Amino acid sequence: MLIIWAAVGATLAVLITPTVYRNLNQKPLDGLIIGLIVGIIGSVPGLLVFWLLLPYRFRQSDRPPHPLDGFRWRGVAQMHSNNILEVRDIHTFIGQFHILEGVSLEVPRGSITVILGRNGAGKTTTLRSIIGLNNPRSGSIFYNGRNITHATAHEIAASGIGYVPEHRAIFKELTVRENLEIAARKRGDLERNQQFIFDLFPDLQRLIDLPGGNLSGGQQQMLAIARALVPDNDLLLIDEPSEGLAPVIIDQLMAAIKQLAKHKTVLLVEQNFRVASRLADRYVIIDDGHSVMSGDMADLIKNPDVIKRYLGVA
Ligand SMILES: Nc1ncnc2c1ncn2[C@@H]1O[C@H](COP(=O)(O)OP(=O)(O)O)[C@@H](O)[C@H]1O
Ligand SMILES: [Mg+2]
Repeated sequence: MLIIWAAVGATLAVLITPTVYRNLNQKPLDGLIIGLIVGIIGSVPGLLVFWLLLPYRFRQSDRPPHPLDGFRWRGVAQMHSNNILEVRDIHTFIGQFHILEGVSLEVPRGSITVILGRNGAGKTTTLRSIIGLNNPRSGSIFYNGRNITHATAHEIAASGIGYVPEHRAIFKELTVRENLEIAARKRGDLERNQQFIFDLFPDLQRLIDLPGGNLSGGQQQMLAIARALVPDNDLLLIDEPSEGLAPVIIDQLMAAIKQLAKHKTVLLVEQNFRVASRLADRYVIIDDGHSVMSGDMADLIKNPDVIKRYLGVA
């Protein structure tokens, strides 16, 4: 716009000055040369203003590059703005096996959403599809408005989704400190977030120099979750955190998850309905590779028939 403005100004100066000169009975050729000079000088302020505004117009490029920039996402998704994650009718294969045959779910920002379902229903495969370890063959996954369906696990992790796999994947031979240090995505992640982590899990601070393998089951689970909190993730996917733990430890862990969910969105898989019902705001049930129901946890609690049918407990 400003370039056009400058060009129009310059052209007018070039055209008008010789006419003015002719009227003053001077040589039109001198007028043309002076017009050119006036035009060039006249366009300078326009270009200057344009140059000053340039960084402002392109200030988007001043922000740190987003890991998914330039990634093949088809425009901004028509996501419900309240959802941090939307999974739409995904089909995922493991080898030739068609494991997920239509899973859809929505995770409202700031919520704790739980995936329920029997053993082998496809809960872990759903998390692995989201995190890019098993990209779906069809359907789509949107995270923060971006289509991440075919992104790599590295790109997805870098975009702010933390993953805590089943069976507490920690390095048993490394100390708690080392486990946390190698979870950092960038320098400074651990310094920035360690206070938050130690407030949630004071045991980890106390055991900081012990090898991971020396921790109890509950402490190992805490370390596994803590590792996902070292980088600045917005969304945590946690697979069966209560598995194999004593009830009193489960209660401690649930309290910590509830506490961290004040700052992060959580999507968790949980077989233990007692735990899930106390923790989660929203639920989705997966049965035999299909998502079959979803809604508010408060409504599911009032529906023992559904619980019995899909989860085998009442
Ligand atoms: N590596 C694999 N090879 C073949 N089948 C698998 C593999 N991993 C999982 N499956 C199958 O996929 C289905 C879903 O598994 P999974 O997502 O782990 O279930 P869940 O977490 O709900 O218990 C199960 O029937 C399981 O046997
Ligand atoms: Mg599983």
